[in-house]
Amino acid sequence: MFEVSKRLQKLPPYLFAEIDRKKKELISEGVNIIDFGIGDPDLPTPENIIDAMKKGVENPSFHRYPIGKGTPAFRKAISDFYKKNYEVKLNPDEEILVLIGSKEGIAHLPWALLNPGDISLVPEPGYPVYHIGTILAEGTPFFMPLKAENGFLPDIEKIPGDILEKARILFLNYPNNPTAAFVDRDFLIEAIKFCKKNEIVLVYDAAYSEIYFGEKPVSFLSLPGAKDVGIEFHSLSKTYNMTGWRIGWVCGNNKIISALAKIKENIDSGTFEAIQFAGIEAITGSQESVKELRAIYKKRMNILVDGLKEAGFEIDMPKGTFYCWLKIQGSSIETASYLLEEAGIVATPGIGFGPSGEGYLRFSITLPEDKIIEGIRRMKEIWVKK
Ligand code: MLT
Repeated sequence: MFEVSKRLQKLPPYLFAEIDRKKKELISEGVNIIDFGIGDPDLPTPENIIDAMKKGVENPSFHRYPIGKGTPAFRKAISDFYKKNYEVKLNPDEEILVLIGSKEGIAHLPWALLNPGDISLVPEPGYPVYHIGTILAEGTPFFMPLKAENGFLPDIEKIPGDILEKARILFLNYPNNPTAAFVDRDFLIEAIKFCKKNEIVLVYDAAYSEIYFGEKPVSFLSLPGAKDVGIEFHSLSKTYNMTGWRIGWVCGNNKIISALAKIKENIDSGTFEAIQFAGIEAITGSQESVKELRAIYKKRMNILVDGLKEAGFEIDMPKGTFYCWLKIQGSSIETASYLLEEAGIVATPGIGFGPSGEGYLRFSITLPEDKIIEGIRRMKEIWVKK
């Protein structure tokens, strides 16, 4: 028979695929599951975006290959969106590339920047695709622990010199998945200087930038020098409940954008133009739905946090994202299994995001309020019993 490549053999099973498999197994056994697992919005895509999509699919000119960096109209809309929201100027022709979801771009970027043996600086706990993309490109991830005592920011000054010599990429993601941490301006300004000095590309993942409960998160690209060293991945998934549509973009430094565009033109044929057309409506149409979404997540998060406090946990209300990063006693895998088996509750074990995630569970609030309340009721029951 055949053997899969060494490259593939190096990959661990994809975290959420594993959890999904377990969950489906229990559902097939008749268990009523409360799913705090993957961060996948349960609410529908706003009506105005769906209406635009309906119009889009009826346009025959959108049925052909959507080759290139994205439609000029969508790239112009993205550039206007950045100007309006973050006071960032972007040249739509050179500084924006449309993606089949930001996950796709993040996974392919290391192919454009790494030679075998080059290093990516990867936060852990973190979104698994940063190190998976690195391994697939035959690079080596160097993990930077995110610890509560540092506000879940990496200590970039502590990275050893021999690692820095080979480092080509620094991944950062704030508001952060899975810890829900925010970053301040000063840290990012230092990170930009650090990347400039060490000739490292700063890759900023801003997928959760619009999900906040109070103050708006800092925009990386709006900081001085950001575009000299970096790019920012952005997604419509979380802001407009569009995870299934697969649409995002990357913007910033034109050299890095062109490199990724070259990879992509060789392996995919772009994002369906009707989806890009609907994407224009998402970012240029009414933003009322986004305000409502923030209010819904804030209310859900309050319910979860209050419930967890009542169950005896110490937890602060996160400033944003739809994740709650809960410190627990003991093993995260054992606790997650206990929750699943005893209470039908899916929570993601922190260690799945990296070794520093051990001792934590991640709860995603992408499920209706009544389910959150029921989940808390079940958790209180078993945790008291325990
Ligand atoms: C998560 O649960 O971490 C996210 O939904 C994964 C993703 O954005 O691909």
